[in-house]
Amino acid sequence: MIEVQNLSKRYGDHLAVDDISFTCRPGSVTGFLGPNGAGKSTTLRMLAGLTIPTAGSATIGSHRYTDIPNPGTQIGVLLDASAQHNGRTGREVLTIASRTMGLDRGRVDQMLEVVGLSPKEAKRRVGNYSLGMRQRLGIAVALMPTPRC
Ligand SMILES: Nc1ncnc2c1ncn2[C@@H]1O[C@H](COP(=O)(O)OP(=O)(O)OP(=O)(O)O)[C@@H](O)[C@H]1O
Ligand SMILES: [Mg+2]
Repeated sequence: MIEVQNLSKRYGDHLAVDDISFTCRPGSVTGFLGPNGAGKSTTLRMLAGLTIPTAGSATIGSHRYTDIPNPGTQIGVLLDASAQHNGRTGREVLTIASRTMGLDRGRVDQMLEVVGLSPKEAKRRVGNYSLGMRQRLGIAVALMPTPRC
């Protein structure tokens, strides 16, 4: 279960996230909607341990992301498909992810097939990928360990 309680984030004078609370139950699909600048990405960054909250808490399975050992194996995250190393090939990105998470090397080829990146595309550098190809690659990284959340 994802639980956000009285979560706020302030950047100087600017209150980016203002005291929000919600829960997402396991197995549910949840849309997170709001106008540009409403604080959606900031909230998700706080859930994924990339931004420190000013107040409140954001937990997954009752734990903060940063307190979970090898969190990539438990939680699949894709916040920004373009936030990848442009000089690496798609296959290299997946190989590094699998090694970092301690997964079987065979997962690389499995995930390339799951997301529909061909062997030829996997040899190309991410800097030359289209947005859709980057999104496929990001989904492959997020789902590679078969995360529960
Ligand atoms: N690092 C930062 N420093 C200062 N202000 C920030 C920072 N990150 C976000 N903000 C501000 O916080 C507010 C919320 O930004 P956020 O990116 O969370 O919005 P969003 O809901 O994801 O918007 P969008 O729909 O455009 O993706 C915005 O006003 C933004 O300018
Ligand atoms: Mg955003």
